[in-house]
Amino acid sequence: MILEIQNLTAGYKSGPSILHDVNFCLHENEIVTIIGPNGAGKSTVLKSIFGLTNVRKGNVTHGSRDITDLPTDGIIRSGIAFVAQGDNVFPDLTVQENLEMGAFIRTSRKEVQEKQEEVFHFFPSLKKYRSQKSALLSGGERQMLALGMALMLSPEILLLDEPSIGLAPKIINEVFEKIQKIKSTGTSILMVEQNAIKALEISDRGYVLELGKNALEGTGKELLKNPKVGELYLGKKQKLEEGK
Ligand SMILES: Nc1ncnc2c1ncn2[C@@H]1O[C@H](COP(=O)(O)OP(=O)(O)O)[C@@H](O)[C@H]1O
Ligand SMILES: [Mg+2]
Repeated sequence: MILEIQNLTAGYKSGPSILHDVNFCLHENEIVTIIGPNGAGKSTVLKSIFGLTNVRKGNVTHGSRDITDLPTDGIIRSGIAFVAQGDNVFPDLTVQENLEMGAFIRTSRKEVQEKQEEVFHFFPSLKKYRSQKSALLSGGERQMLALGMALMLSPEILLLDEPSIGLAPKIINEVFEKIQKIKSTGTSILMVEQNAIKALEISDRGYVLELGKNALEGTGKELLKNPKVGELYLGKKQKLEEGK
């Protein structure tokens, strides 16, 4: 097991707890997706792993190391990268400068340059914009850049918050293809997605989070077949159609 979240209860500052005794795990070379309604606490799970919430109970373990109380830079140094939802690049910096920012804990200039070339090889569309401000990129290209920034650190674990949000269907497929490719290079991925069906299709396992608690879990295939999951997402679709 590469990442384990055990009996975690967490909230923000002195506010109420948002997560209640939740459990998740990620094995090496897996894609695991957490789905659930808006406000369920999905982003709070990722932020808790990354040291951005107030953890009141439970543990986060990376490999054999307890990282629950580490500051965020220590968590990054342990090999975990986080791509936040939306606004996840520096718009006034060029593509290349953004990638350099992503590599901020690297100390060798040569390593940064080598890694950057690797990222450009992985995302060829970014290379031609390397000297442009990232504000000029399309939504899909910005999301690729955000992934590229995270890859600058060669993370063992990648946390992704809603990587497909706001993107056109064709671009969503491209982003999910890149995520599968990242997995094939040996990075384990814990992702949160509203786009449940597509995300579960590329996931080894998944969890449903409701009201800050574990509700269901299974393989991607099992969850896709689960009538409760179907109800939740099919129901939503029907309502949207009724509202037309
Ligand atoms: N920075 C914050 N400070 C206080 N409360 C927050 C903060 N971020 C999120 N919350 C609250 O935590 C709950 C869960 O939010 P979130 O984890 O973003 O849900 P999801 O990602 O599943 O939509 C919501 O009630 C939200 O208002
Ligand atoms: Mg969220």
